[in-house]
Amino acid sequence: MNLEEQLLKMRRDWDERAKENARYYVATGNENWSDEEFFASGQLTFEEEILTDLENICQGKDPKQMRVLEIGCGAGRVTRALAQYFGEVYAVDVSGEMVAQANRALETFPHAKAFQGNGMDLSVLPDDKPYDFAFSGIVFQHIPSREVIENYVREVSRLLRPGALFKFQVQGDPSVTTSPGDTWIGVPFTDQQAVEMAERCGFDPRYRHGAGDQYFWLWYFKK
Ligand SMILES: C[S@@+](CC[C@H](N)C(=O)[O-])C[C@H]1O[C@@H](n2cnc3c(N)ncnc32)[C@H](O)[C@@H]1O
Repeated sequence: MNLEEQLLKMRRDWDERAKENARYYVATGNENWSDEEFFASGQLTFEEEILTDLENICQGKDPKQMRVLEIGCGAGRVTRALAQYFGEVYAVDVSGEMVAQANRALETFPHAKAFQGNGMDLSVLPDDKPYDFAFSGIVFQHIPSREVIENYVREVSRLLRPGALFKFQVQGDPSVTTSPGDTWIGVPFTDQQAVEMAERCGFDPRYRHGAGDQYFWLWYFKK
């Protein structure tokens, strides 16, 4: 399977999942999320991953003056919480169905918008001024291609201002079995691979948490 076929498969599979039950595939804890519960779960992620880490994320900047981006926004679960806090929010997802749902969740936030991307770069996002923070959670754990993930990392490096943080999660469990056509199980990273990827893409991989685990979080600071 070549890269083009793989990207097409990602889009098709995630569009199908979104049509069947987007919220379940976004956060598999519940098959029947109410609006309230679904966005409360996004708010919880926001509190756990963002509010506990404001020093690294804001670096003294007023959040309302910050431009942030999110990769793999799904149905806007976390994006909505980001939009309540930051001045400008741009999100991307490979699935048009997910993006449509995310934009419905963002209707009352004119400074936040989701875009459908090609599954491996951020060319759909505005690049007229630099971004102050980038975030991605439970997305790369579904991407079976190391090349695609590294391309996103390089793209974030292109868009962030020097010193800014890209906080994201990858699959760290080495025992998972991946295959090129499986768009549910993402390729695992060792700590060493995470460090080398950062260096190749212009980042300082300053903190890492959860190596060896499904939730391997990385703090990459743009050099
Ligand atoms: C489990 S959901 C998580 C959504 C969101 N991050 C959240 O926490 O609510 C994974 C999302 O990643 C998106 N995705 C999968 N592969 C992608 C890719 N190559 N590029 C961008 N988004 C992708 C899917 O369409 C889906 O919306």
